[in-house]
Amino acid sequence: MSIIIKGGTIVTPRKSYISDIKIKGEKIEEIGLDLKDDNAEIINAEGRLVFPGFIDSHTHLDLDTGYTKTSDNFKTGTAAAIKGGTTTILDFATQNRGESLKEAVGNWHNLSKGISSCDYGFHMAITHWNEEVKSELGKMKDQGITSYKAYMAYDNLRISDGEIYDILKALKEYGGLLGVHCENGDLVNTMIREQIKRGNTSPKGHPLSRPNIVEAEAVSRFIDIAYLADAPIYIVHLSTKEALEEVIKARRRGQKVYVETCPQYLLLQDKLYFLENFEGAKYVLSPPLRKKEDCESLWRALSEGDIDMIGTDHCSFNFHSQKTLGFKDFSKIPNGIPGVEHRPVLMYTYGVMEGRITKEQMCSLLSEMPAKLFSMYPLKGALEVGSYGDIVIWDENYQGNISSTNQIQKVDYTPYEGFKTLGRAEKVFLRGTLVVDEGRIVKENYGRYIKRGEADD
Ligand code: URP
Ligand code: ZN
Ligand code: ZN
Repeated sequence: MSIIIKGGTIVTPRKSYISDIKIKGEKIEEIGLDLKDDNAEIINAEGRLVFPGFIDSHTHLDLDTGYTKTSDNFKTGTAAAIKGGTTTILDFATQNRGESLKEAVGNWHNLSKGISSCDYGFHMAITHWNEEVKSELGKMKDQGITSYKAYMAYDNLRISDGEIYDILKALKEYGGLLGVHCENGDLVNTMIREQIKRGNTSPKGHPLSRPNIVEAEAVSRFIDIAYLADAPIYIVHLSTKEALEEVIKARRRGQKVYVETCPQYLLLQDKLYFLENFEGAKYVLSPPLRKKEDCESLWRALSEGDIDMIGTDHCSFNFHSQKTLGFKDFSKIPNGIPGVEHRPVLMYTYGVMEGRITKEQMCSLLSEMPAKLFSMYPLKGALEVGSYGDIVIWDENYQGNISSTNQIQKVDYTPYEGFKTLGRAEKVFLRGTLVVDEGRIVKENYGRYIKRGEADD
């Protein structure tokens, strides 16, 4: 049976307009005014916005850090995503050192298959690089992996600058975009030791050990490596004004540099590390939260089109049982915060409703750009004939309140506790099937693996 979504305001990055959308099977069959089909189910969307399903291109679900595991797995994390209007996530399939990429992807399929409520794909995080790993890149592409991540920080994950250069060159041959976690890991290690030696063992020590320049230096170095390799790059979770300036400089000299930031770097600030009772641990993630001027410069960059995407870097650890691993030493606090459930409503409330970005820009940042950059467009990230029926009917007037007591992401706190919100994903369609209605999940486990790159063929 077909579905006709009637009379909503369709939002695209270029314009918003009132129209009907007809979905047949998994895909959009027709867009136009006064669509008719006696056999179709009619969904009234008058007075509502209609967005292409949102894409979160940065999550860590069921991630084992070696000493603890994220509290959200694919079951709970993707349910939280779909409830908020995110129809697709890209998670980081992370290679254990010594493991092949094939094994790593296999592990991630095992973790996600059959239990995911939104669609999902994998970036491949390379933590161990050699000729054998290089020889696997072609097969990765065949399996729908078109993007990679490398780390410049974290001793168990980081690789060298030379290896990053090699990967960039190899990806030119095999296809694929490399994103990098940009922090100078060596400096971070030394600065952590320095803070601990001074007796700064509480969460206050975290931002002190990772100041802005630690990110800006790494961003600038990554850009230089990419210049030498003559390759496009993507910078994940950019957090500082200084790093943004490096990106803008590089673009001026003609480099292709794509940038993601996250809601936490727009809405939260480093004063939270000073909260009493170890509460600052809730905000320990890397890069750390920054200052007001950094937030303002990122908002400005969003409105001027200098930042391409907003992901969450959802990486949840319970405050009471996991963040406490670092009670005596902030460097042992597992790094990461939750956010996959709340990104769309945060961006709508504090971006669109506060006049910092337009709804069309929100559509670009949360849907179209991640789809384009990660080889899913126009099957995903678009409301066009032939696109998947991944559709969010957005109620602009809904008033909410973010709280750990009403969230479904499986973690005992939210960094946005008490934030008032406007708007919500009232109905969500995933490939033509209604999976969220009245803001509640009505169909679970409907997500499937998205083999990326198919739209490019
Ligand atoms: O602190 C963070 N961001 N944890 C998740 C892993 C990463 O660095 O992206
Ligand atoms: Zn990272
Ligand atoms: Zn991450």
